[in-house]
Amino acid sequence: MELWSYSETIAGVHKQMKQYPYELIALYMKENQTFKIEVETFCRHFTQREKVEKLEAFSYLPVKGQVKLKGPDVVFQYIEYYGIDPKAPPENPYMVFFGRWITNGLRQLIQDLSLKNRKFIGNTSMDPQLSLLMANQAQIHPGDIILDPFVGSGSLLVAAAHFGGYVLGTDIDYLMLHARTRPSRITQKKREKDESVKANMAQYGLDHKYIDVLVNDFAIQFWKDDIRFDAIITDPPYGIREATEKIGTSKENCTVSEQHLSTHIPAKIVYGLSSLFYDLLAFSAKHLKLGGRLVCWFPIFREDYQEDGLPRNPSLQLVANSEQILNKHTSRRLLTYKKMSEPINKVMEERNHITDFRTRYYDNREETRKERRMKRAMERN
Ligand SMILES: C[S@@+](CC[C@H](N)C(=O)[O-])C[C@H]1O[C@@H](n2cnc3c(N)ncnc32)[C@H](O)[C@@H]1O
Repeated sequence: MELWSYSETIAGVHKQMKQYPYELIALYMKENQTFKIEVETFCRHFTQREKVEKLEAFSYLPVKGQVKLKGPDVVFQYIEYYGIDPKAPPENPYMVFFGRWITNGLRQLIQDLSLKNRKFIGNTSMDPQLSLLMANQAQIHPGDIILDPFVGSGSLLVAAAHFGGYVLGTDIDYLMLHARTRPSRITQKKREKDESVKANMAQYGLDHKYIDVLVNDFAIQFWKDDIRFDAIITDPPYGIREATEKIGTSKENCTVSEQHLSTHIPAKIVYGLSSLFYDLLAFSAKHLKLGGRLVCWFPIFREDYQEDGLPRNPSLQLVANSEQILNKHTSRRLLTYKKMSEPINKVMEERNHITDFRTRYYDNREETRKERRMKRAMERN
């Protein structure tokens, strides 16, 4: 809303509005404009009669048009704020606000896209509020092409598609992409046959925005050099709830015999956070359109945090960096980068040191009760 006055008392708001310079609000007081006054009392219930009395207290406003309750040209918004404890609201409001309503927010979307009712979820599905926030940071427009290279159950694709993006994703985990991992809901014994990222999109009427999801190790790229994405939004693994792995082997000269090739499942090695984020930024520098955005989470050991230790790439500018505290020691940062220039080939990019969050996490984590019990039992033996 366009805030015209606020005060700790009801009388304070009325005093300010009576003295409000007419020329600043004349645009909304015209004879040919219909209007209504909306009364909202936050955290305290009032009867309709009491609400009408609050509304009538504004009879001095110099409005010239007719009242219209449904679809008026102008809505004036009056709010009394009684705190956040509905069981013990104070007699008088803490704050009172008055102004012109501009538009509603999209908070209802958080409920509409709730993970509770989503067809297919995994253990690390991102909640809708943060997914929507990431899609906002990426400035997704209708018709954009959006990639999540660590797509999991595809929560970020749901938010991106909601804002009009055509979405695709990749993930190393074949079972996850085919919704064949163990169910994540304790009440669910077996995965339903029709669980999938695509089914999630259909659930929200977004299936026309779904391109596909593909099994791919991010460390091994298969995209054509000239493909460009409008935005990349992703939540890479941190190595705590899910492994940071890539395909590879520590064995020298490893070969697979002809007869085993068709059933061979490639071995995996650790994909250190530093390499993973280096690759993610280099990939984005190459495959984003100019001005396109990379939005990703980056885990932090809070004591170690320095902006210098964040991943960087000469073609990308860090435009936003916000912290979500997880516990005393750890947090994650939502990083938004904007592509400013095409990467210059052949020049070795400067590689800054990124602290290995996983090592620090396990070095500093307090022992769990189970670990203490096992340690004591071992000492006794
Ligand atoms: C934090 S989860 C992403 C969760 C996802 N945002 C969702 O809503 O379900 C990280 C994902 O990265 C995948 N992953 C791990 N290593 C990978 C790699 N080398 N290449 C591609 N995906 C990888 C994991 O299988 C996991 O699904």
